[in-house]
Amino acid sequence: MELSKKNISKTLEKISISGSDDNIVSSGAIKNIQVFGDQVDIDLSLSNPTLQARKKLEVDIMKIIHNEIYEKAKININTKIEKASNKISSQSKKISGVDSIIAVSSAKGGVGKSTLTINLAASLAKKGCKVGILDADIYGPSVPTMMDVEGYVPKSIKVNDQSKIEPIESYGVKIMSIGFFTKLDQAVVWRGPMASKALNQMIFDTNWGELDFLFLDLPPGTGDIHLSLVQSLPITGSIIVSTPQNVALADARRGIKMFQQESISVPILGLVENMAYFKTDDSEDKHYIFGEDGVKYLSKDLNINFLGEIPLIKSLREASDFGRPGSLQESTEVSEIFDNISKNVVEQLLKRNKELPPTKIVEITNLVGCSAVKK
Ligand SMILES: Nc1ncnc2c1ncn2[C@@H]1O[C@H](COP(=O)(O)OP(=O)(O)OP(=O)(O)O)[C@@H](O)[C@H]1O
Ligand SMILES: [Mg+2]
Repeated sequence: MELSKKNISKTLEKISISGSDDNIVSSGAIKNIQVFGDQVDIDLSLSNPTLQARKKLEVDIMKIIHNEIYEKAKININTKIEKASNKISSQSKKISGVDSIIAVSSAKGGVGKSTLTINLAASLAKKGCKVGILDADIYGPSVPTMMDVEGYVPKSIKVNDQSKIEPIESYGVKIMSIGFFTKLDQAVVWRGPMASKALNQMIFDTNWGELDFLFLDLPPGTGDIHLSLVQSLPITGSIIVSTPQNVALADARRGIKMFQQESISVPILGLVENMAYFKTDDSEDKHYIFGEDGVKYLSKDLNINFLGEIPLIKSLREASDFGRPGSLQESTEVSEIFDNISKNVVEQLLKRNKELPPTKIVEITNLVGCSAVKK
């Protein structure tokens, strides 16, 4: 049986509370269940049990999960002694404290979504903004490597009596990635619904605190994961990255259509042209390896804002491989490019906020501690 919240909850219904016909789920004793990979966190609330009864219950929970669901599950039970309530906490569909959620997307793979995400995030954090990244690329999470936090394991903490996961912070950016819960060399095969569930958990169970911007680094494509993400989250706006070549542009059009679908209607903040050209060290000549200005033409054609271009730059690739975003460099070509794009992104965010009817706005006027981009 799949190690999931639902299966665990169903199985735990078989454990009754001694001296009553109620079970530990229906009585409300199980406050919260969290599953990440093979790790299970269970919050248990009991009213004045004897030490023995409490221990027995904890052992029973572990046994039944190991025997009926997954024998290698690592189970952690947090037991709180209080008067049991009948309410099981429900998840809110808003992330409290997060002002703007920005999805970075491209239907085609390998065109620079993660590069753009980490560099924009680092650039804004450098200016004093509170920034987070959710690496939603559950098939090939690359944010931990690019932000130098590969192999880190987030801690489980308690916030207002709820189990939460503490994001990993690097260069002032709070990061959550499925990569923290899987081994790098393990191919992760997620079926659609499982993947969406894991993502939902990463979004809503992470202790983001107050953020001005939460960037979503999306996997390539326009599949189920994208649909479920954009439908379950109040995404403030999306950025579409593409290279200028025709195959990439065709995919970019598909990506744009997805965001513009009526059922989704996520505002598109603009397009970014990556790998726009290449220059050698000894000449100013630009070589248009993937074609010239394709994304700029697309943005004109579809009347979508153009946020900026990024040439092919060796030091940018090296910076990502090294785990330190190029945008953190002191006044280099790379840092200027990303400072400029991040400025345009914020401008577009504020413009969107003004232009959209109030009901559709996700409030972004209150940019906490982010005076650098308030103007
Ligand atoms: N402008 C650039 N100059 C040099 N290298 C770049 C540039 N943009 C991206 N790269 C490199 O190209 C590779 C792919 O980029 P990246 O991982 O950002 O793409 P992606 O769209 O996130 O890919 P995926 O679809 O696999 O998630 C990386 O090694 C990155 O360092
Ligand atoms: Mg990527």
